[in-house]
Amino acid sequence: MKQCQLAPDFSLSQIVYGVWRWDEKNQTEKDISAIIESCLSLGIDSFDHADIYNDYGNEAFFGRVLKTNPGLRKQIKIVTKCGIQLLSQKKPLTKVKHYDYSREHITYSVENSLRHLNTDFLDVLLLHRPSPLLNPDEVAETLSDLVLTGKVRYIGVSNFTPQQFQLLQSRLDIPLITNQIELNLNHPFPLTDGSIDFLFKEKIKPMIWSPLGGGSIFNETGNALIRNKLQVLEDKYQVGADVLSLAWLLKHPAQLIPVIGTNQVERIQAAVKSTSLALELQDWFSLYEASLGNEVP
Ligand SMILES: NC(=O)c1ccc[n+]([C@@H]2O[C@H](COP(=O)([O-])OP(=O)(O)OC[C@H]3O[C@@H](n4cnc5c(N)ncnc54)[C@H](OP(=O)(O)O)[C@@H]3O)[C@@H](O)[C@H]2O)c1
Repeated sequence: MKQCQLAPDFSLSQIVYGVWRWDEKNQTEKDISAIIESCLSLGIDSFDHADIYNDYGNEAFFGRVLKTNPGLRKQIKIVTKCGIQLLSQKKPLTKVKHYDYSREHITYSVENSLRHLNTDFLDVLLLHRPSPLLNPDEVAETLSDLVLTGKVRYIGVSNFTPQQFQLLQSRLDIPLITNQIELNLNHPFPLTDGSIDFLFKEKIKPMIWSPLGGGSIFNETGNALIRNKLQVLEDKYQVGADVLSLAWLLKHPAQLIPVIGTNQVERIQAAVKSTSLALELQDWFSLYEASLGNEVP
């Protein structure tokens, strides 16, 4: 699988695997080792985490697998996030869900992520969601210090508007290398609200979360027009609807990096097929039309 260059000496695999849906109640370390192995054998070497996933549990879950496979850390890239404070029995002082981008919290969160993941550096640290109270001067100084000490190699953001991105970047001497945002056939708005255009202009490759709408594209909660159109194209291209939906994203010239979340190895294999499927122009627009609910003007 192709690598996507995010900085001169740093790349992520064209498809990233996201661990949000892992849950120790349903999966064992053996299960997740099998997922990681499958990803690696398919060329997916980049894994997307957040401190909060699985009630603050998934970094440690992943870290236990890293500990039992000493060679693994060198083969993979770890993206993780900080900033959201969830209500959790593990966080008795948190009384209301909120965002915290103070120097203390970012530093504390990174130290925790490193400890849980059994690693001494994070490849990428993302600020999970923008906060109205985020102080760009304080955050820029904190992130720069984390990079300077080698605890974090690269920094980025998630769910930021172009203006929020620019504000933080204006206070930094080092680049924000990505903005991880939601984009899928059920949620095409970033294609027209300026989010993707801004990143494209700045030559920043977007990471795309829920590229399959969290599975909603394929079930009754989703849009029937999209499902019908996918069905027609399944026959034409002889691939599944998930492959087509990812290929639809990958056709965008801004080089989007989908972060997939399936727990099924066969679906990871299917996702990889999308990287070599070139959707014809009019098929791309037929899906776009279904996504918008009307033909383009
Ligand atoms: N930055 C943020 O704010 C943010 C927010 C949300 C997520 N994320 C990141 O993005 C990653 C991916 O998000 P996501 O899990 O929502 O991605 P996704 O790939 O859009 O959705 C995965 C879900 O879709 C289902 N699915 C996949 N293929 C299917 C098919 N052919 N038919 C029916 N269902 C299918 C999967 O079920 P199976 O497991 O059964 O295949 C799984 O429940 C997360 O792990 C996380 O790392 C980031």
